[in-house]
Amino acid sequence: MNVFTLSDVSNQEILEILEEAEEFKKGKEVSYKGKKSAAFLFFENSTRTHYSFEKAALNLGIKTQNLEVSTSSVQKGESLYDTCKFFESIGSDILVIRHPEENYFNQLDGIKIPILNGGDGTGNHPSQSLLDLYTIKEHFGYFEGLNLAIVGDIKHSRVAHTNYQVMRRLGMNVYTSGPSFFQEEGYQYIDFNQAIDKMDVIMLLRVQFERHNNQFTLTKEEYLNQYGLTIEKVNRMKKDAIIMHPAPFNRNMEISDDVVECRKSKIFEQMKNGVFVRMALINRVLNNE
Ligand code: CP
Repeated sequence: MNVFTLSDVSNQEILEILEEAEEFKKGKEVSYKGKKSAAFLFFENSTRTHYSFEKAALNLGIKTQNLEVSTSSVQKGESLYDTCKFFESIGSDILVIRHPEENYFNQLDGIKIPILNGGDGTGNHPSQSLLDLYTIKEHFGYFEGLNLAIVGDIKHSRVAHTNYQVMRRLGMNVYTSGPSFFQEEGYQYIDFNQAIDKMDVIMLLRVQFERHNNQFTLTKEEYLNQYGLTIEKVNRMKKDAIIMHPAPFNRNMEISDDVVECRKSKIFEQMKNGVFVRMALINRVLNNE
C-alpha cells in the first residue's frame, strides 16, 4: 500500500487513520521491536515532515536511515527509481519520499515496498493534510459545515491543493484568499477582510519565494498589512475559531510575530499531532503490505 495522494484514500480510511492517531496520542503502544526499517529520501528541504516521520518511526520501534542526497550517488546521476530499488534491495520495509517534481511517484511503479509521499513539488502533501484534519477534528469534534479559508500563496502550495480537495470532500466549506496572482482558477475565493469574522479556521500559507523566480513585488510590510494575520484581525475572529499554518512561516509577513503563539494558534499543536498521525500512517501501510 502506497500513500501518494489523498485522492486514493477514502473518507472512511481517513477517519480510521485519525482515530488511530488519537489512540497513539492517548498512549497506545505498538512496537515493531527493530524488525522493520524505514528509509527517508528527502530531495527537497524539510524539517517537520522529515523529522516527525522519523520520530513516528522511532516511536514504533522501527529502525531509520536517512539518505544524504548531497553526498549520495544521486550526484552521479542515479535515478530516483534506482535509488528506491537500492533501499528495497537492502531490506528497507518502507520509504518516505519528498521530491521537487510533481507526481514523481509515477516513475516508481516497480517498487514493491510501501512508499509514503512527503510532498511532491506543488502537488500533494497527504501527511500534512491528515495532521491538519486531525487538529481540526480535535478542536471542533466534526468537519461538516465548518468554514475554512486558506490564505496566501495557494498556487505554489501542495498543502492548499491537497486540503482544498479533501476538506470539501469531508463536508467543510473551503475558501481561498489572498493576492489574486496567487489564486487557483476554479477555487472558491473570499476577500480576506470579509472572511475574518466568518471563518472557523484561518489557515495561513508561507509565501514560497523559492518557487516564484523573483517575481514577487510586495514588501513584507505591504503583504502583512493586506493579506497577513495581525493581532487586530485575530481580535475580529469568531470566539471558537482557530489559526493554522503548516510552517515554516515568514514572521511578520503572512503572520505577525504576536499571532504565532497567540491563544487561537494551533501551529505548534499541528506539529505535535503530526507525529501521531504519521505513526498511524506508517502502522497502517505496514499492516497492509
Ligand atoms: N509543513 C511542512 O511540510 O514543513 P517542512 O517543509 O519543514 O517539512
